[in-house]
Amino acid sequence: MPDIHDKTDKPGSFLSDIKELRRRARQHMERGAITESYKADPQKVSEVLNEALATEIVCVLRYKRHYFMAVGINAQAVAEEFLQHANEEQGHADQIAMRITQIGGEPDFNPAILTQRSHAEYVEGNNLIEMIKEDLVAERIAIESYSEIIRFLGENDITSRRLMESILAVEEEHANDLVDLLATMGPSKSG
Ligand SMILES: [Fe+2]
Ligand SMILES: [Fe+2]
Repeated sequence: MPDIHDKTDKPGSFLSDIKELRRRARQHMERGAITESYKADPQKVSEVLNEALATEIVCVLRYKRHYFMAVGINAQAVAEEFLQHANEEQGHADQIAMRITQIGGEPDFNPAILTQRSHAEYVEGNNLIEMIKEDLVAERIAIESYSEIIRFLGENDITSRRLMESILAVEEEHANDLVDLLATMGPSKSG
């Protein structure tokens, strides 16, 4: 005879008891999105996300510089790509800053420490090829460091992890775009 209290074969039996869930949700309401199922250290996650935020802002500034400085025979197509990347990095910065506030942290926009905290560097580059190469290096740094952040977040902060996963996918597209641009500029110059 089946035990009606046996939760093991009911759909959703992995969930905590619903009364307990409801009780816990009423506690510490001031923490907003942070409930007891949030298993990460919000302060540590804020620090890590602030590093990603700094990386994005430095990338916005570098791409903007490259956009305005792009000259030469291929300049228009390349400049358009730089501008599109700049705008997408700005979108990432905004998403990350928003997430930091959701977990009770503060996004740090202090320009004096952005370049120290950023994983990627601000390199101006003297010509189109150098600019594209520096942007490619920066994207590859972001891809590596965001992959590490995603593994660090794991199952402990699922929303932050998914945000960083979606950003990572765009950085990989950016890196591919830049490799394609280099290829169109000719192997003799890009080598
Ligand atoms: Fe980005
Ligand atoms: Fe990017």
